[in-house]
Amino acid sequence: MIEKIQQHRQDFDDKVSGCSSLEQLKQLRIDFLGKKGCVSGIMKDLRTVSPEEKPLVGKQINELKEHIEQSLEGKTSALQKNGHGVSGDAKGFDPSLPGKKELTGSIHPISQILEEISTIFFSLGFQVEEGPEIETDYYNFEALNIPRDHPARDMQDTFYIEDDVVLRTHTSPVQIHVMENQQPPLRIIAPGKVYRCDSDVSHTPMFHQIEGLMVDENISFSHLKGVLNIFLHQIFGEKTQVRFRPSFFPFTCPSAEVDIECVMCSGKGCRVCSQTGWLEIMGAGMVDPAVFESVNYDSEKWTGFAFGMGIERIAMLKYGINDIRLFFENDLRFLKQF
Ligand code: DAH
Repeated sequence: MIEKIQQHRQDFDDKVSGCSSLEQLKQLRIDFLGKKGCVSGIMKDLRTVSPEEKPLVGKQINELKEHIEQSLEGKTSALQKNGHGVSGDAKGFDPSLPGKKELTGSIHPISQILEEISTIFFSLGFQVEEGPEIETDYYNFEALNIPRDHPARDMQDTFYIEDDVVLRTHTSPVQIHVMENQQPPLRIIAPGKVYRCDSDVSHTPMFHQIEGLMVDENISFSHLKGVLNIFLHQIFGEKTQVRFRPSFFPFTCPSAEVDIECVMCSGKGCRVCSQTGWLEIMGAGMVDPAVFESVNYDSEKWTGFAFGMGIERIAMLKYGINDIRLFFENDLRFLKQF
């Protein structure tokens, strides 16, 4: 009887080391530990053993059972680790299969367009500067030649934190911070969040702007036109018509509103461009000497241009989005399209 047990053990050890799939291991378990398997067979034979030998033989049978169980367990996890166990596939693990795809997010359309805009200005030698979103009245208005009680303040619905502290209504104050800390020549863009007390299909209380400023000797309106033409042609296509329309901003003189030919109707006139064929895209102009004065730049020596635009507006026109609020609702059906 003892010999028989040893034989079974040897037989099992041989077979288990030859197993290369979970399927085979399953079969081996049935053969050895199943109802009609070897171990149950010798259990039955235990009846024929003399009462003196029974405890020893019984112990050996238990040991055999334990040995089989442990070996099967060890081999199973070894096969699983090597990938042989994948859904009992007898052919084993295929390392050439593509990996499981992790769910990844996508870059927000505002970040994408900002990246695109920045890349164009980098190629023209501009560098990025940032400024605070909470500003004093001085930086947001006064230093930009918008005095208290001046009607130009009404152009922007301002969130006041205190009498003299506001959420910046535009990125133009970054011009002041930069000029206070650096001497010309300067070529900077300043993207960031701005805040206005306004909300409808084309306004959200928070939106993004990008400011531009170039200061050097002999900078003229032609440089401004050249830079903005290059920029707008790269964003909206080489053939896009661009026009500069006289306007007013307190911090630039002369000032212009820059329009592009309507991207929806190619200038024919539609609902989006109010039948004019043109879309207003940004404000721009030559830096007003009063602004240079507030940062102690010599306006006899230096001249410069500035411009500012809304990033959402550029993205809406480029991608044909008709409601600005979509950018901030975090609806994946919208965001996944970019
Ligand atoms: N800050 C202006 C606004 O938010 C936009 C602007 C107009 C910026 C003309 C400029 C500029 O730098 O020169 O409406």
